[in-house]
Amino acid sequence: MAYIVVATGNAHKVDEYRKLLDGQNVELKSLLDYPAWPGVEENGKSFRENASIKALAACKYCDVPAFADDSGLEVEALDGRPGIFSSRYADTDAERIARLLGELQGRENRRARFVCAIAIAVNGEVIETFEGEVKGVIVDAPRGKDGFGYDPVFMPDGYDQTFGELPQEVKNKISHRAEAFRKAMEFVENEMAVLDDDF
Ligand code: IMP
Repeated sequence: MAYIVVATGNAHKVDEYRKLLDGQNVELKSLLDYPAWPGVEENGKSFRENASIKALAACKYCDVPAFADDSGLEVEALDGRPGIFSSRYADTDAERIARLLGELQGRENRRARFVCAIAIAVNGEVIETFEGEVKGVIVDAPRGKDGFGYDPVFMPDGYDQTFGELPQEVKNKISHRAEAFRKAMEFVENEMAVLDDDF
């Protein structure tokens, strides 16, 4: 069986990807399987650049095909912030949410979108990148305990529950990560040789 490394040590993300890969003939590993992973500086200027930096570094380090995502929240009233700085916006999820709600206090425009870029690297080269998004609004106060990051304050268009309240199966169908991943899987299925070549 072919296998692929996802360049993240975030157990939530690994879990989401493992569910998204359910039924595929690909075994998923992550950087949690490589405890000596030295890390890499995410100094790109876009989601795609950061995903590419991580995928390439993991591909070279693990010596197997790798993919990486870079994702974040873009808020209209904040001119797209926190964007690629979503995880660096504050130290903890609770602080990130508190800072976001503080910045949006009194603002009428609550529109936002989650964006996810995925890069695939094989044989020491980034071969393709993909992007997905989900649009919605930032609610006034956190709701729900599921998910991670900004999930409790993000309500996707067409739903009256936040990502923190919606079942994970629903989030996994409509999320930015799911959309980018679907595009990546289509590519991998059509070009499966890029994975099989290595094994
Ligand atoms: P990175 O992609 O690991 O660099 O992190 C992006 C940051 O954006 C995360 O730490 C979260 O704060 C936020 N983020 C990305 N995707 C999601 C999501 O699906 N739900 C909630 N927050 C997210």
